This record gives sequence, structure tokens and C-alpha cells, in this order.
Amino acid sequence: MANTTDLNLRVVAGVKVPSPGFGAMGLSNAYGTSNDEESKKLLRHAIKIGLTFWDTADAYGNGHKLSTIYQLPAGSVLAEGDNRSKVFLATKFGHEFDPETRQSSGKIRGDADYVRQAVENSIKRLGTTPDLIYQHRVDPNVSLEETYGTLEELRQAGKFKYIGISEPSAETLRKAAKVHLRPGFAPAARELNIPIVAYSPLGRGFLTGRYKSHEDFEPNDRRRVHPRFSQEHFNNNLKIVEKLTALASKKNITPAQLSLAWVAAQGQDIIPIPGTKTIERLEENWASRDIVFTPEELAELRTAIDQFTVGGTRYPEQMLKHVEK
Ligand SMILES: NC(=O)c1ccc[n+]([C@@H]2O[C@H](COP(=O)([O-])OP(=O)(O)OC[C@H]3O[C@@H](n4cnc5c(N)ncnc54)[C@H](OP(=O)(O)O)[C@@H]3O)[C@@H](O)[C@H]2O)c1
Repeated sequence: MANTTDLNLRVVAGVKVPSPGFGAMGLSNAYGTSNDEESKKLLRHAIKIGLTFWDTADAYGNGHKLSTIYQLPAGSVLAEGDNRSKVFLATKFGHEFDPETRQSSGKIRGDADYVRQAVENSIKRLGTTPDLIYQHRVDPNVSLEETYGTLEELRQAGKFKYIGISEPSAETLRKAAKVHLRPGFAPAARELNIPIVAYSPLGRGFLTGRYKSHEDFEPNDRRRVHPRFSQEHFNNNLKIVEKLTALASKKNITPAQLSLAWVAAQGQDIIPIPGTKTIERLEENWASRDIVFTPEELAELRTAIDQFTVGGTRYPEQMLKHVEK
């Protein structure tokens, strides 16, 4: 990853993209109810303000009925005017689900047949070829040569331009890079010159200070089953939010902006991708790009974070087993 003169630009595979980007998972039903028409307005607004690094996945919208799936709002907005040429579009595959019912099988698949089928289905739903495709989770039963060899073949056939990987161990990242990713977590990615797309940079909304209790999540909100947001751990974890809120208030910014600016300050190779369903919060998050910390503020934040022990794992047990250590 090369440095750029504009600190709010990041370079992914030689392409300059703006930071922060946008994560589209919340436009599905992951965090409570969503509305496709509102999502389209939000995506159009994102393009208007220049927020054009978008992250999605074929699995978002899991459980949505028929074709009211996540990828369609993005797809239809991208088909309008010259929108497609303005957006760097990243998508993921790997969580197996039934394309008709959208129900997940709970399995991870990285075999050649599945990779080909998933890439074709994503292109169909998005109505365009993505720029970047990542493997959402590594399939432990398939060799990286098979998964990444197939991806490389599809890349050469023009199905997408770049290949990425989500939640690999440092060892897997190194091996996958040998099969495909061009040479050139954090230390391994940096060593290999691979940019890091930092997901859930607002701690799934928790770090914004907006949630005060486990009960604040809608009944159909997936966060209800995440251990970090359980009744057991909620109050402990709120302590770091209180600290960050106090620091944000001293600086006259919101806690969400503080978190995003902090992630972005960790390096020119990191792109935070916050998600939101509202234009107001999209703008608030976008404005985090103008925030600069003094060395003293950075040190205070680092101490607060290092001294805090988070309660609860970051995924429920069933999902945690798909994340490499
Ligand atoms: N590779 C992977 O395995 C993986 C895993 C998880 C996520 N992701 C990607 O990362 C993206 C972002 O992660 P995320 O959506 O899990 O979490 P996040 O960006 O950390 O937080 C999103 C939550 O914060 C709320 N929010 C956003 N901006 C806010 C603000 N300024 N003030 C108050 N609340 C605010 C949103 O609510 P509203 O919508 O109501 O604003 C939503 O509930 C996803 O959309 C997805 O694209 C990737």
C-alpha cells in the first residue's frame, strides 16, 4: 500500500479509494428491520458525497424472503447513470446458503464448484462485476490452492479485478498470498503489503454510546446473540464506551467519530467501513475523515484501550469456529 498525499485516500491494489468506506450489512436484516427504498436513497447519497468504497457480501440478507436481498438495492443504484464507475465495489462469498430461500446451511465452502457458482450468482444479483471479491471465511476442508487457484482463474476471465480474504490467520494469509495475492492481520498484511479493511469499526454500534442495555436491540437484531452484548457482559463493556465518550466530548466530536478517526489513525493501510441505515449518521461518519489527533490524545486513547479488558467473545461459539486464530 502506497502513501498518498491526501490522508483520507487509501490505495487498494493501486486504486485510490476514499476512507472511511461503507459497510452494507445493516441494509439487510442483520441489525433489525431495514427498508430497501431507504437503503437506495442512502447509497445514492453516499455516491453524492464521495463515499464510494462499498463493502457487501452474498450472505447479507440471509433469511430475507424471495429476492428482497441485500445485493439488489446496491445493484439497482449502481445501474443508475454513471454510478457504477464511481464506486469501488467489494463483495464476499463463502457462507453457503440456498439461493432460492436465502437460508444458510451454516457451512463454509471454498471448493472450486462453489466458488464459481457463488461468483456468478453475485454478479447476477449486483448486476455488475465487483472490483474486489474476498473469501468471507476460510474453508478448512479445501486447500488454499483450490480456492485461490479458482479465484485467480476467474479474475483472469474478467469476473472481478482483485482478490481478498476475511478473518484468516497470519499463516493462512501468507499461504494464500503465495497462491494468488500479489506480494506487495496487521503485521502479516503489512509485511505482504496487503491493505486491511477494518469491519465493525464502531463495535457493531456499541462504541457510539447509543446502546445502554441488551434490551435496546430490536428482537430480531443479531447482536442479541453476540456474547459481548449479553446481559452478563454489557455493563462491563460500557465502561470503555464511557471513557471514549468523555474523550470525544473534550474534543467536541461524537463517540462514533472518535472511534472511526482512531481506526483510520492506525495506518494508511487501514480502511474503516462503518455501516448505517441513515443519511444523517452516514454524514456524521464521513466527517470523521477531518479529525486529527494530537500525540497526547493518541497516547491517552491507547492507554484507555490497552487497560480495558473486553467481556465476551466477538462471535457466538457457532460462528467463532469459522474465524481463524
Ligand atoms: N468480513 C466480515 O466478516 C464482516 C463482519 C462484520 C461486518 N462486516 C462489514 O463491516 C461493516 C460494518 O460493520 P457493522 O455494520 O457490523 O458495525 P459498525 O459499522 O461497527 O456499526 C454499525 C452500527 O452502528 C450504528 N451506527 C452507525 N453510525 C452511527 C453513528 N454515527 N451514531 C450512532 N450509531 C451509529 C448503526 O446503526 P444505524 O444503522 O441505525 O445507523 C449500526 O447499528 C458491515 O456493514 C459489513 O459490510 C464484515
